[in-house]
Amino acid sequence: MPLLAIETTCDETAAAVVTRAREVLSSVVASQDDLHARWRGVVPEVASRAHVERIIPVIDEALSRAGISKASLEAVAVAVRPGLVGSLLVGLSAAKGIAAALGLPIVGYDHIAAHLYACRLAYGESMHYPCVGLVASGGHTSLFHVRSPLELERLGGTIDDAVGEAFDKAASLLGLGYPGGPQIQLAAVGGNPRAYRLPRPLANDRERLDFSFSGLKTALRYLVRPPGAAENTPAPVGQQRADLAASFQQAAIDSILAKVEIALVRTGCRALAIGGGVSANALLRESIQRLGRERGVAVFIPPLSLCTDNAAMGAIAWERLERGEDDGLELDILPGTDRKKHTSKTFGK
Ligand code: KG4
Ligand code: ZN
Repeated sequence: MPLLAIETTCDETAAAVVTRAREVLSSVVASQDDLHARWRGVVPEVASRAHVERIIPVIDEALSRAGISKASLEAVAVAVRPGLVGSLLVGLSAAKGIAAALGLPIVGYDHIAAHLYACRLAYGESMHYPCVGLVASGGHTSLFHVRSPLELERLGGTIDDAVGEAFDKAASLLGLGYPGGPQIQLAAVGGNPRAYRLPRPLANDRERLDFSFSGLKTALRYLVRPPGAAENTPAPVGQQRADLAASFQQAAIDSILAKVEIALVRTGCRALAIGGGVSANALLRESIQRLGRERGVAVFIPPLSLCTDNAAMGAIAWERLERGEDDGLELDILPGTDRKKHTSKTFGK
């Protein structure tokens, strides 16, 4: 019998039904992008209110698309960290309500570990452990030594902005829409990635596996609007915009690749997995594939539908349920250390 997974860490309301064999019977994601677009970032209060309105219809839709009733469920899984407090609480409350009403086990899972588990869903048993795991999203940019689905040792991460947050801000500077990642990728087509010299902060520091993206963002800002220029300077258009987008994208991806390479050497891992919204980026996907070929390392990249936030990756809960674990109705949210990064994204820093 399948489990119902629920995901409301940030601004996507999602539910999925996944069997013990890790077959995804349904995966429903209600995006809130339209609600947050005018703020060019997630507004926590708006996000949690929207989750309250959508969570039950999204769960019903996931059950209906899977062709099952609640009575056929074996367990409930819910993302409990990291994330926005108000958003996490909505998913947790719904999950607890269903588990209590049906007398089902309930298991909380880590959203970051789940992003990497998307690779296990896509590749099945051929997914290798141990591996280096890169999670690159709007709220996180971290590298892990992944010994098994539930054992992640953090090797490093961003010391300021997440890379997805930098993409979102760059898109805003270039007069593009939200979320910015896909828009930058599109605008970069036909652009020259070497047209502008942009910084790759920390990329040459072989000691630390940390990232920094705020300097890159600021450098782009000064290219678009030099110091002293009027606040209402129009955003670049045409070839100039394409060149700026391509140069920004290249710098962001180069910064990531440099650290992934060091992490592979340091851990000696022969496998590399990626996850999170930015892993949908075509340049990152190509660059990671090339790196894997050059180093003879197996590469695991989720399909696009499993890159951005979704509940199918909540299948990671099976790893605990199979051990007989059950968090029970005592389960609580653990917003985690990354919560601040999620909220700072809000105000388009
Ligand atoms: O994993 P996700 O859906 O939510 C968080 O946990 O943050 O990631 C969303 C982020 C956004 O910042 C978005 O701009 C970025 O992923 N993103 C991309 C692409 N698609 C989504 N960034 C670069 N290129 C893309 N194609
Ligand atoms: Zn995410």
